[in-house]
Amino acid sequence: MTGNRGVVYQGPGRVEVEDIAYPDFVLRDGPGVNPANVGREVPHGVILKVVATNICGSDQHMVRGRTTAPQGLVLGHEITGEVVERGPDVEFVQVGDLVSVPFNIACGRCVNCKARHTEICLNVNPDRPGSAYGYVDMGGWVGGQAQYALVPYADWNLLRFPDRDQALERIMDLTMLSDIFPTGYHGCVSAGVGVGSTVYVAGAGPVGLAAAASAQLLGAAVVIVGDLNEDRLAQARGFGCETVNVAEGDPGDQIEQLLGVPAVDCAVDAVGFEAHGTGDQAAKEAPASVLNTAMDVTKAGGAIGIPGLYVTGDPGAADEAAKVGSLSIRFGLGWSKSHAFFTGQCPVMKYHRELMAAILNDRVRIADAVNAVAIPLEDAPEGTSPSTRGPRASTCSTRTATWAPADRAANGSWARLADHRSPVVHRRAGLLPVISRDT
Ligand SMILES: NC(=O)c1ccc[n+]([C@@H]2O[C@H](COP(=O)([O-])OP(=O)(O)OC[C@H]3O[C@@H](n4cnc5c(N)ncnc54)[C@H](O)[C@@H]3O)[C@@H](O)[C@H]2O)c1
Ligand SMILES: [Zn+2]
Ligand SMILES: [Zn+2]
Repeated sequence: MTGNRGVVYQGPGRVEVEDIAYPDFVLRDGPGVNPANVGREVPHGVILKVVATNICGSDQHMVRGRTTAPQGLVLGHEITGEVVERGPDVEFVQVGDLVSVPFNIACGRCVNCKARHTEICLNVNPDRPGSAYGYVDMGGWVGGQAQYALVPYADWNLLRFPDRDQALERIMDLTMLSDIFPTGYHGCVSAGVGVGSTVYVAGAGPVGLAAAASAQLLGAAVVIVGDLNEDRLAQARGFGCETVNVAEGDPGDQIEQLLGVPAVDCAVDAVGFEAHGTGDQAAKEAPASVLNTAMDVTKAGGAIGIPGLYVTGDPGAADEAAKVGSLSIRFGLGWSKSHAFFTGQCPVMKYHRELMAAILNDRVRIADAVNAVAIPLEDAPEGTSPSTRGPRASTCSTRTATWAPADRAANGSWARLADHRSPVVHRRAGLLPVISRDT
C-alpha cells in the first residue's frame, strides 16, 4: 500500500507532519470524526495525489487554539490534485484529471445543494449543515495538507482543469480556486460590488487581498483596504488599492479623507472574530470591531459581505459572551441604515469555473495579489507557526503558502513548476516577496 504524510494538529501552537493513513473509499474513525460518519462508504469518491494545498487563515484560528479542534486532526481544506483512483460510482471524472476541490464538501442531492448553497449541504456533516476537509466540527473528513486525500461526491464537487500543461503553468493561481479567491469574490458579490463602486475591505490577509483583487475584477472605482499590518497594506497598495491603517485612527475618518465623503458603497469583512480594535484600542482584540466599522462606513442601503469567520465556541475569547460567539454588535446602526448582511462559508462551486477562466485567460493574477509563496509539505509547521503568522505578524506578511508534496519533485510536472517559480521569488529584508509577472 502507498504511504501518506499529512499535517497534524497537536494542540495550541503546534502542528507536525506525520505518517497518516492512505485514504480508501470509507470514512474511518479518527479525531473529530462524528460517530454518525464512522464507516461511511464513499463509492462516489476519488483519491487525489495532492499537487498544491494552502495554509488558510481559517486553519490559523485552530492552530492558535481559538476553536475546539481535537488533537490529531489532519488539517487542510484547500486541495488541488491529480486523480489517482476512483470509486465504483464515479462516472465522469477520470484517473489523471487535474482538479480543484471546493473546500465545502457537498452531496449535490439535498435541497440546499440544489439551490447552489453548497456551503450548507445537509448530508455530509451530522453536526450541522455544511462541511469542509480537515476542520473542527465539520464531520471529520480528513484534511488535504497531505500527499493523498479522499474527495467524496467527486462528479459533483470537482472542477477539472481543461489542459494539464496550461494548468501546471498557472498552478500557483489555480490553487487559490479551492477557497480564498472564490471567498474574496463572494464577499464582494454579496456586498454588491460592481462597476464604479467604492469598496472598503477590512483585512489585508489572503482573503482580504483576494477580495480587493476581486473588487477590481468586478469594476470597482476605488478599493480601500484596512489592516494594522503595514507590510500587508503595502502588498495591497502594490496592485492599486488605497489603504488605511486602522491602528492610526478611526477607519471612517481615514476613508472620508480618501474619498471626500464619509461612506463607501460596499464593505467586506475579511477579518472575522479575532479582530483587533481600532485607533488606541488596536493592541487589544475586539471581536465586533470590524462589523461595527463596516456598519459605520457603509452607505445607507448598502450591503456588507462577511466572509470573515465567526464561531459558536471560542475558548480563547476575552469575555464569557464571546466564548459562545455573542458579540457586542451595534445592530441598531445597521438596521437604521437598511444594511444587508451576508454571512457564512463561501459556496465555492458558484464561482470557481468562471474564476478559473479569468485566471487561464490572464484577467487576474491572484497568486501575486495574495503574495503566495511555495513551500514543501515538510515545512508546513514553520508555515503555520503562530509566531510568524499572527494577525500582527511583522516578520512575514504572507499567510497563504502553497506547496507540493516532496515526492512530486521526482515527477516532471512539479519539478518543472518549482524550477520555474523559485528563481523569480525574491525576498529582501523588511520587504515583501515580489513574484515576477513574466512567468
Ligand atoms: N467564509 C469563508 O468561506 C472563509 C473562507 C476562508 C477564510 N475565511 C475567514 O476569513 C478571515 C480572513 O482570512 P485570512 O486568511 O485573510 O486571515 P488573516 O488572519 O491572515 O488576516 C486577517 C487580517 O485582519 C487584520 N485585522 C485584525 N483586526 C482588524 C481590524 N479591526 N480592521 C482591519 N483589519 C484587521 C489582521 O491584522 C490580519 O492581517 C478569517 O476569519 C478566515 O477564517 C472565511
Ligand atoms: Zn481556507
Ligand atoms: Zn447537499
